[in-house]
Amino acid sequence: MTAAPSLQLPSPYTLVELECVDSTNAEARRLAEQGATDCTVVWAKSQTAGRGRRGRAWVSAPGNLYFSILLRMPYPMDVMTQLGFVAANAVADAVQVAAPRGTFVNVKWPNDVLVEGKKIAGILMEGEPDPESGRFKWLVLGIGVNVASHPVVEDEAYPATSLAAQGVSGEGLALAPLLDTLAKRFLAGLATWRNLGFGPIRRHWLARAKGVGGPVTVRLPNETLQGVFGALDENGALVLHLDGQPNRVITAGDVFIPTGAQSN
Ligand code: BTN
Repeated sequence: MTAAPSLQLPSPYTLVELECVDSTNAEARRLAEQGATDCTVVWAKSQTAGRGRRGRAWVSAPGNLYFSILLRMPYPMDVMTQLGFVAANAVADAVQVAAPRGTFVNVKWPNDVLVEGKKIAGILMEGEPDPESGRFKWLVLGIGVNVASHPVVEDEAYPATSLAAQGVSGEGLALAPLLDTLAKRFLAGLATWRNLGFGPIRRHWLARAKGVGGPVTVRLPNETLQGVFGALDENGALVLHLDGQPNRVITAGDVFIPTGAQSN
């Protein structure tokens, strides 16, 4: 069901506003296949099959922000991961604006946003590769922000929070202004990325990053590694320093930062 639009996003965005959908990423994908234009934004009040990274589900009750941005950009696939950092910076900026004054907002590799060490937002990037050109036909950046609630997670390794849990109430929990701020910050970051490259995006991300330079555990599909988060490389990969072994360059995985480890 399509609701009356409650937000006017700036050009070049086209907003598709839905009450409920399986997944805004899935809907953006379907729209991409039907020819939807660059910067189409799909926003749903709830999702029945919200998905997270690495095949996990994303609990999607009403009250939180769920949206996806469709991008059609003729860039090589390896640089597209950089857009996850553009998005993470925009989410962190928007959460900072919405959170109580003085709240510490951090980013965690690859694209999580944390408040007080707990996850408040996540980003899922999905694309359709074109093997002939080595580029993506389109890319979908799906963003979920815990506003009114957060999932109760059993696994202590995945603590979560929401704006409400951080003391925000009333109009502070409105979704349209949050999406508006986030979409505008993302557009500004995209312009920076296009004009100046990944350097400034990387620096902005590193200024808020949790875990860089300290001990981390990296969970990969078939192994778990313990080392030091040595650096974020020029494409956004995590350079892991291992004791007595060559560095590993990690492009996908889950990172765990021991409690009490240095923030930056
Ligand atoms: C993560 O695991 O951290 C990524 C979570 C991404 C969730 C968002 S909610 C909007 C969009 N639609 C989805 O199905 N997933 C993303």
